[in-house]
Amino acid sequence: MPVVCVASPKGGAGKTTLAATIGVALRRIGWRVLALDCDRENALRLHFELPSDELPGIANDGGAERDWTELAVETPSGVFVIPFGAAEASDSIRLTTLIGDNPGWVGRKLAPFFEYRDLAIVVDMPPGPSVYDAEIDTLADVHVAVLVADALSLALLPRFQRGDFGWGGAPRKSPTGYVINQVEPRHRLCRDVLVLGREVLGEALFGTVHHDEAVAEAVACRQTVLDYAPDSIAAHDIAAVANRIHDSLAPA
Ligand SMILES: Nc1ncnc2c1ncn2[C@@H]1O[C@H](COP(=O)(O)OP(=O)(O)OP(=O)(O)O)[C@@H](O)[C@H]1O
Ligand SMILES: [Mg+2]
Repeated sequence: MPVVCVASPKGGAGKTTLAATIGVALRRIGWRVLALDCDRENALRLHFELPSDELPGIANDGGAERDWTELAVETPSGVFVIPFGAAEASDSIRLTTLIGDNPGWVGRKLAPFFEYRDLAIVVDMPPGPSVYDAEIDTLADVHVAVLVADALSLALLPRFQRGDFGWGGAPRKSPTGYVINQVEPRHRLCRDVLVLGREVLGEALFGTVHHDEAVAEAVACRQTVLDYAPDSIAAHDIAAVANRIHDSLAPA
């Protein structure tokens, strides 16, 4: 029942893409996997060959009455997905208020899944601080922080390491593994950022993922790159990251 929280100090870094792909990679390693979408964008489901009609999610009708075991939908990759849902802004706000007023609510909704010791729960976090930070931090066994190989990500890194993004400024309960995504080795700045990132992060750097057109093409086909282009460089990179995550978790 380990929980893997995928977050970033920066929007658009690749949280959703990596959460989905890491989920599929963990499934292939042997974990049962539940991928949970905590972002109103409701984009996680787009990586899993699900029918285009909207699926119910955690935020529909303000979220209160939903049984999350009924929301989990099995996908062709073998990963179960709980969507955020195509929620109106008012529903999303109601859910935020509900969670804010009831600390531990997300954990109680996930409780039925915690019975399965071989089930890894991968959480796609929204960009920026949110009510989900404190909720997921109490549950997470490992945080995966997605950075991009640019100067801004590196500049934001010390604040993120202090817990200044999300988690109410408090140190995170569980260890954080960093992934530098969208690496373009041909770009000099990118190479410099990688050198510095490796120096600063050391063992906490779980891996780097190349910028690879196959990643964007995969989502256009509603798949992860592991299915769409298994021999691509990004597929290999993300599988290696998933192995590092697996090593940090109890054996499946
Ligand atoms: N390694 C990669 N190579 C090429 N494109 C990538 C890679 N990683 C992510 N992308 C592309 O970058 C864009 C943003 O990715 P994604 O939606 O996963 O980011 P996010 O961090 O979840 O964004 P948000 O902050 O809006 O939730 C998408 O178009 C995705 O296809
Ligand atoms: Mg996202």
